[in-house]
Amino acid sequence: MAQYELIDHEFDVVVVGAGGAGLRATLGMAEQGLRTACITKVFPTRSHTVAAQGGIAASLQNMGPDSWKWHMYDTVKGSDWLGDNDAMEYLAREAPAAIYELEHYGVPFSRTEDGRIYQRPFGGHMTEFGDGPPVQRTCAAADRTGHAILHTLYGQSLRHNAEFYIEYFALDLIMGDNGACEGVIAWKLDDGTLHRFRAKTTVLATGGYGRSYFSATSAHTCTGDGNGMVARAGLPLQDMEFVQFHPTGIYGAGVLITEGARGEGGYLTNSEGERFMERYAPNAKDLASRDVVSRCMTLEIREGRGVGPKKDHIYLHLDHLDPKVLAVRLPGITESAKIFAGVDLTREPIPVIPAVHYNMGGIPANYHGEVLNPTPKKPDAIVLGLMAVGEAACASVHGANRLGSNSLTDLVVFGRAAAIQAGKVIDRDAPIPAINKTQDDKILTRFDRLRNASGSRPTAAIRDAMQRTMQEDAAVFRTGETLQSGVKRMSGIYGQLKDIAVTDRSLVWNSDLVETLELENLMANAMITVVSAEARQESRGAHAREDFASRDDVKWRKHTLGWIDSDTGAVKLGYRPVHLDPLTPESEGGIDLKKIAPKARVY
Ligand code: FUM
Repeated sequence: MAQYELIDHEFDVVVVGAGGAGLRATLGMAEQGLRTACITKVFPTRSHTVAAQGGIAASLQNMGPDSWKWHMYDTVKGSDWLGDNDAMEYLAREAPAAIYELEHYGVPFSRTEDGRIYQRPFGGHMTEFGDGPPVQRTCAAADRTGHAILHTLYGQSLRHNAEFYIEYFALDLIMGDNGACEGVIAWKLDDGTLHRFRAKTTVLATGGYGRSYFSATSAHTCTGDGNGMVARAGLPLQDMEFVQFHPTGIYGAGVLITEGARGEGGYLTNSEGERFMERYAPNAKDLASRDVVSRCMTLEIREGRGVGPKKDHIYLHLDHLDPKVLAVRLPGITESAKIFAGVDLTREPIPVIPAVHYNMGGIPANYHGEVLNPTPKKPDAIVLGLMAVGEAACASVHGANRLGSNSLTDLVVFGRAAAIQAGKVIDRDAPIPAINKTQDDKILTRFDRLRNASGSRPTAAIRDAMQRTMQEDAAVFRTGETLQSGVKRMSGIYGQLKDIAVTDRSLVWNSDLVETLELENLMANAMITVVSAEARQESRGAHAREDFASRDDVKWRKHTLGWIDSDTGAVKLGYRPVHLDPLTPESEGGIDLKKIAPKARVY
């Protein structure tokens, strides 16, 4: 067995990840006096939430009529009827309170003339249960909303004495003999020491795995680390086939141009100068939900109406807008368009193309943030001591497709929910879990194996093969043929992990080893994604099968579960039912069930 000294820490709660969800959970735990640590591989304000631009959805009614029921309806429809109704009600109902809390914590939201929080339109957010025009529901801090939220939550967490362990890479969960989670082992990147965090509750807030694809708006740090740890612990990941493409990544660079650009009046055109979204989505037009817009753009390009010399992208116009609107509401993308596309958007359109943006799937969790280990008899069985929030989790509040600006809402609503639940279930007088030598050895043996890996394939080469395969075979449109090819190619690439080459053996700032650990996490995510996608023989939300073009609620209104054998990469699938009951019966003020019954999804 590898000999490594472990430095011990004991907490009530350990949160892994310091993006919006991780910080909101950390703050909520610390506010209640729970001894709370937050471990993060990057400095908190560099977490990927910092890149969230357009805003955070909540039915505040600052710009016109709105209601939580309309918000819930839009979320249900956006999810293509795969989301869990209890979780979606929780999101829509709790969103306004969560936003006002952010305001009181100090988030510098943009303001209306009369001083209220400014809200803009966003894709798929409508009035009158989808029958009316778009609603202004997305609360914004210019186009740097994630940045504003992250800085505020970090400051508040420090104020409440949460302890931060910054630039620590979480290796694996410590799972007790009874199946409960007892903490996590992490590697401190700047001095090479190893740390054992034992805790009554561990919260995974590690974000998505966008970097399993070649072109993504996600930061290079979005490597699905929590999902990888859960998969190695023998637990399933849920609904991984649903990968969201954002319509407006800058062509060539993949950098995000916020949907808020279309919310402020921007529109898309093809090579004929046509505003083609009017043809596909007569009511919502450019503000249809993003899976719909991404598919329409892809169709226009396929049918020869793309722009540019290769006719392989689309134009986004903002050049008709008042430059003052651009300066005040969209300063960040004005800069991004200049830097990454060389475009002055007061005069020229931006070249854009759909890019991977978000993972609807992840660690199965309930709306309290508790991680599930479903069995056929107990589909909602929880894992003691383990929570998951934010993009890492699948609550399932976005189902098959997330609405723009519901992600920041998810982060703060469920980060907060996890803290509320932890406050109820953690016994402050209970002892911290004891040291578990068998688990420590297992975790350190894997770490040591990777550190000393002396195969012939560099990490970067395997990663490149994975990213290209996922981009080609599990794309905006899929077929049985592309997905079978994806499964076959990915299985081969998974096999290459046994022949991986790590050249740096040191423990201090070993980025070669960090990238290798990240690659193992990405590979688990990618394998489950492609196998789950191949199995789902219907089209729903972001999963668009050309060979099964319709949604099939009879056979497929169910969540996919995928377990991976980490040694071989073999994936086993199972399914669990969608929660059809909302939290509140209609007789007690809840939504009318007829309103959220499945129907054709048109915008
Ligand atoms: O377009 C955007 O600003 C992205 C928002 C989101 O993904 O929620």
